[in-house]
Amino acid sequence: MGWHSMVGYGMAGLPSLLCPAGAARQHSRAMVEERLLDARTSGPWLCIDLGLADYMTPKETSRLAAQIRRLYGANRQAEQPFWIYLTELVPGSPIHRECLRMNDGFSGYLMDTTQESYLDLFPLDAIVYLTPDSENVLEDIDPKKVYVLGGLVDESIHKNLTLQRAREQSLQTARLPIREYMVKSMNTKNYYSETLAINQVFDVLSTYYKTQSWPDALKAGVSSGKGYVLPDGEESVKTPQRDNTQENSLFPESLVQARAANCRFQAEAPV
Ligand SMILES: C[S@@+](CC[C@H](N)C(=O)[O-])C[C@H]1O[C@@H](n2cnc3c(N)ncnc32)[C@H](O)[C@@H]1O
Repeated sequence: MGWHSMVGYGMAGLPSLLCPAGAARQHSRAMVEERLLDARTSGPWLCIDLGLADYMTPKETSRLAAQIRRLYGANRQAEQPFWIYLTELVPGSPIHRECLRMNDGFSGYLMDTTQESYLDLFPLDAIVYLTPDSENVLEDIDPKKVYVLGGLVDESIHKNLTLQRAREQSLQTARLPIREYMVKSMNTKNYYSETLAINQVFDVLSTYYKTQSWPDALKAGVSSGKGYVLPDGEESVKTPQRDNTQENSLFPESLVQARAANCRFQAEAPV
């Protein structure tokens, strides 16, 4: 059975026996699923690298599972969602167990999960590993690229961990343009950090993809606790760079299908 026929979103146009509220819920769920499935073929694509499990304590692993839940929830709400891959997700591993334990409906999440690495799924030159320690600044989101996030919660910071990993794998890297658009705020603890949780990074990416404005995007994802704020009057400055006329497909269809076959497709989305 192909993945299109595995999901129930074709129900939207059928006569419904549900009450109006139930029918509206079903309709909006169908719209969400349709948008997600569009992103699966057209991008943008986001990959969470779960090959970093050895660097986390059980408590950090639980926090990562909660961040995956928040990220997925935010993506379902997005007008222009990303298609999400969880790579190196080993069945029965601590992060898999925590995702199942803490995230209702995890096994039905509309995303691809695989034990394989992103290196086996995507062309190397399409991968951009996002890491706070990169010397490159992310300027725009290119729907032809796959953005990889380190599946890591590091309470005691592992500086350069993902940067090193990406360099060893000869991948492009980029960091969010926090210091380019934000300024340090007065804070009593004198604490400043450009390292965000993966769900916060996602909020930045998702808002940027929708608004094309880095100030708006950073405002959505960088909490005041990080010690950075927008300078006064710096919101809603657009950074138009995306060429909407470009062909909106990431890779040849054969590659999309090869990837789809490699990844376990999670058929039913949670309510
Ligand atoms: C909690 S951070 C982990 C930081 C860790 N020290 C490292 O080496 O990546 C989780 C992930 O979110 C992404 N991330 C966090 N802050 C970022 C930033 N400012 N720019 C780009 N990516 C960021 C990276 O993919 C990172 O691996």
